Amino acid sequence: MNKINVGIIGMGYIGESHIEALRRIGICNIAAIADTNYDLAKNKAELYGIEKVYKTVDEILADESIDVIHNCTPNFLHREINEKILRAGKHLLSEKPLTTTYAEAQELINIKNEHPELEACVNFNYRLNPMVQEIKARIARGELGDVRIITGQYQQDWLMYDTDYSWRLEPEVSGPSCAVADIGSHWMDIVQHITGHKIVSVCGDLVTVIPTRKKPKNQQETFKDAVSADYEEVNVKNEEYAAVMFKTDKGATGVFHVSELAPGHGCYFGFEVNGSKESYSWNQEQNDRMWIGRRGGNNSLIIRDPNTISPEVKPYTSLAMGHPEGWNDAFKGNIYAFYKYLADGKTGERIFSTLEDAAYIVKLTEAIVESSKKKCWVNL
Ligand SMILES: NC(=O)c1ccc[n+]([C@@H]2O[C@H](COP(=O)([O-])OP(=O)(O)OC[C@H]3O[C@@H](n4cnc5c(N)ncnc54)[C@H](O)[C@@H]3O)[C@@H](O)[C@H]2O)c1
Repeated sequence: MNKINVGIIGMGYIGESHIEALRRIGICNIAAIADTNYDLAKNKAELYGIEKVYKTVDEILADESIDVIHNCTPNFLHREINEKILRAGKHLLSEKPLTTTYAEAQELINIKNEHPELEACVNFNYRLNPMVQEIKARIARGELGDVRIITGQYQQDWLMYDTDYSWRLEPEVSGPSCAVADIGSHWMDIVQHITGHKIVSVCGDLVTVIPTRKKPKNQQETFKDAVSADYEEVNVKNEEYAAVMFKTDKGATGVFHVSELAPGHGCYFGFEVNGSKESYSWNQEQNDRMWIGRRGGNNSLIIRDPNTISPEVKPYTSLAMGHPEGWNDAFKGNIYAFYKYLADGKTGERIFSTLEDAAYIVKLTEAIVESSKKKCWVNL
């Protein structure tokens, strides 16, 4: 069987996770990687035994052996680079958020529609955690009853000091939001994915808690605990904290908050759904289990087990019970879902996020920013 040849643009924090995931998928071969920081890309290529390294987007796109390109660059480059990838006739796997504005996301959808032979996926990787899929399956079977209330959070601590810095704080690079676009996007995607509800009305409060930060003069990798001796004091515009109330198209209501200032949390990403019969909750820091709440019955903690998981979820899990599947496995699962879909001639379920799904998340992010500025609810 001919393997699908892949190229990756952007070898920063998440680029490496893409390499690891792709190397676990037998139907792919990483043909080349690219980064404007050529030394960084060269080091990663040596570490992982990748043959070709390019410095520019145009060079990797000109490589005719490559079928699919992953875009792992900062947000403001997604619109331009994703367009180039599609126009070069290559399938696209883009990091989230799809773009920094909804108008740009729509432009990308139009370009993709001009190329029906191509497929595109946006990397909302948490979807493919088996217990997330188990919750989705139980909600679809009606076991939870009507979805009434959806709550949760995504908390991290990597921006808690004024010496912590990221391009996500800069509107020119990240878009008009830091925390909502970066981690709130995952939260909104997952709850819409599991419930089948769409968030249609939002009321947000975005807060920049640390308004002045020490920006390092040299490139820093995301989440690296390094205090640079060479820095400049800068005013910060984007938020590190947000609280959002919302309503859905099918009558549910909810609230979530996102924080990059919560000491002790690396990836405390969780949700709870209260239905008319049961409640379900899941938390990424203990992501091999789900909780079921019942009034007048026994509450249950379900630990992932391929033997007892719902039949429709079996394809998304592999390790035996007691061998926890974690963040990397869900990440690989999401990327595998995309490649399986391609390998099967674009048939089967598109369980991964499409451009349309991801564009709606950008629209929601814009609406939350607008709501916070105007201090009112915004309807989509
Ligand atoms: N799905 C997830 O869970 C997840 C997690 C982290 C980051 N992300 C997303 O991945 C993207 C990258 O984030 P990161 O944390 O890896 O950032 P990063 O800053 O660590 O890495 C970005 C890399 O892109 C390179 N780059 C910049 N411009 C380029 C260009 N024109 N051509 C080639 N390379 C270029 C930089 O040199 C850098 O190495 C963001 O959109 C972010 O939202 C997703």
